[in-house]
Amino acid sequence: MSRVVEEGLSKIMIMDNVFYNPLARFNRSVGVVFIKAIGKIIGKQSLIISDAMAATGVRGIRYYLESGSIEKVYFNDMSKYAYKCILKNLSLNHMREVSIVNSFDLERYISLYKGILFDFVDVDPFGSVLPYLSPIFSNLKRREGFLAFTSTDLMTLCGINLEALKRKYGVSIIKTDFCHELAIRIILKNIFSIASYYDYVIYPLLATFENQYIRIYLRYRKSPSKIDFRNIGYIYMGERGYGYISIEDVEMLDITNVRLIGPMWLSRYIDLSFVSVMNEISSRLFEEPKIGSEYKLVGRYLSKILIDDTSIPYIYRLSKVCKNIKIPQPPIRNVIDKLMSLGYKAYRSFLYPDGIRTNASLDDLIKILREIKR
Ligand SMILES: C[S@@+](CC[C@H](N)C(=O)[O-])C[C@H]1O[C@@H](n2cnc3c(N)ncnc32)[C@H](O)[C@@H]1O
Repeated sequence: MSRVVEEGLSKIMIMDNVFYNPLARFNRSVGVVFIKAIGKIIGKQSLIISDAMAATGVRGIRYYLESGSIEKVYFNDMSKYAYKCILKNLSLNHMREVSIVNSFDLERYISLYKGILFDFVDVDPFGSVLPYLSPIFSNLKRREGFLAFTSTDLMTLCGINLEALKRKYGVSIIKTDFCHELAIRIILKNIFSIASYYDYVIYPLLATFENQYIRIYLRYRKSPSKIDFRNIGYIYMGERGYGYISIEDVEMLDITNVRLIGPMWLSRYIDLSFVSVMNEISSRLFEEPKIGSEYKLVGRYLSKILIDDTSIPYIYRLSKVCKNIKIPQPPIRNVIDKLMSLGYKAYRSFLYPDGIRTNASLDDLIKILREIKR
């Protein structure tokens, strides 16, 4: 049984045995905006991109139709059902002339083209992205470009099974109230390690979490001398709350009464200037009559991201802190204003409505919460 759905400017035939998730619509809209931003940043409106695990092809099709920044799309999916479905959908969307379709295992596919052609590759597997990192970075024979990865193995990344997390991702964590933040940083640490092995430096541009999907968007460049291990380190929970330290300095940390979480990516994972460009683009797409509604939520999401600053790698959840000290939760804006007026850094986390990143100690945060309550 097949049926046709409309998503953005695309018409997509959904066929038996081919994956299509309507809930990932938002995340595909973010992808369109990301691609338009690449075009703007590198000054190229004829990008060559790859939808490397394409299923119905909806991603690559929307990227082409809605970004207006693409010359050619290379689709790939190792499933024969998906291959046929992609061809059907390309005809349905009048894109046969601007597309190439393959049906290989990802590693073979990337090695076939050596990644040379692709300004951008989208890697959207079921579950973890980890098995696909080496196939990608070992076969890229390109000096620089852009990548997007999806990971949906949130159960493991959020530490439901700590042994599995250690085994698969090489990370030890403790229970925190910000496991999605940790999940993003754990994936980035693994991308960093494998990219470094192949002499690539990575520059994270954006990471999102929506509907059980983590998406990481980054730029890579072959430049071994720029690989900086200070990006990697530990978050720790000590007597005065959370802190962080890079692996280069961890020997200096007095680990009495400290619990380490990591190793993981410690630096920013949102490039605010890149996301500002994305935000402008999404406002313009919002004005487009046929697809505006797709971009309304994207604009809102990006605006939340723009007031965050991921240079602080941990988050305090006001609801949890207030519950622990048995006081009512004050408005988050008041807490941030108070912290800033006292000279602390304080940002509202885009991941949690009650999440604050601050360099104030937990003791100081609690003191402030008690004062605000009075
Ligand atoms: C989550 S779906 C992709 C969804 C699609 N990108 C979208 O936005 O609707 C993952 C796809 O990857 C394909 N796949 C899984 N392992 C693969 C591999 N090793 N190489 C190539 N394709 C693979 C599956 O057949 C499946 O269609």
